[in-house]
Amino acid sequence: MNQNASMFGFSLIILTLIVAVILGFMAGPTSPLTWILLAALLAIPFLYRKLAAKDFLQWKSEYSVGIDSIDQQHKKLVNLINQLQTAVKYSTGEEFEREALDELVGYTKTHFSYEEGLMEQNGYPDFDAHKAQHVKMIKQVEEVLAEYEKDSDTAMNNALNYLSDWLINHINGTDKQYSRFLIDKGVK
Ligand SMILES: [Fe+2]
Ligand SMILES: [Fe+2]
Repeated sequence: MNQNASMFGFSLIILTLIVAVILGFMAGPTSPLTWILLAALLAIPFLYRKLAAKDFLQWKSEYSVGIDSIDQQHKKLVNLINQLQTAVKYSTGEEFEREALDELVGYTKTHFSYEEGLMEQNGYPDFDAHKAQHVKMIKQVEEVLAEYEKDSDTAMNNALNYLSDWLINHINGTDKQYSRFLIDKGVK
C-alpha cells in the first residue's frame, strides 16, 4: 500500500472511531463498547508507528562481523537503504529518489573496494569468490538503474527490494566468513 492510501485508510478508521465514541457517550457513557472504542482510538498512533517501522531495516547486533570499521560501513549502508525507502515511501520526487539511489550505489561501491582491499592485503584465501559476488551485485544494480530510465516506479521498488535483501544476506553470510581470518590478522 502506498503512503497516501495508507494515510487515507488510517484517517477513515480514526474518523469512524471518533464518531462511534461520541455517539456512544451521547447514548450513555456506561457502555463497555464505548470504552473499548476509545481505547482502540488511543492505540492508533502506537499501531501506526509500529506498522511504519516495519518498512525500514533495523541494524541488529547479530549482523556484526566483529570488525568495527566494517560494521560502521554496514550500518551506513542500512541507513542509506532507509533513506531511499523514505524518499520512495513519502513520494519526495524523482530528484530526491535518484539522489538517494545514487548515494546508496556509490557508497556500496566504496564499501566493496574497502573490503576487497583488506582481503587482498591480508591474503584472504576466498578473496576471488567474495569479489565475484560484489562484481555480480554491482552489475545487477546497474541493470536495475538502466530499467529506472524506462519505468521509474517499478525499477525503484525492484532496486529497494534487491538491495536490502542482497546487502543483509551478504553482510550476514559471506562477509562473516572473513571475520576470524581478518581479526586474526589484526584488522579492526
Ligand atoms: Fe560488506
Ligand atoms: Fe562483502
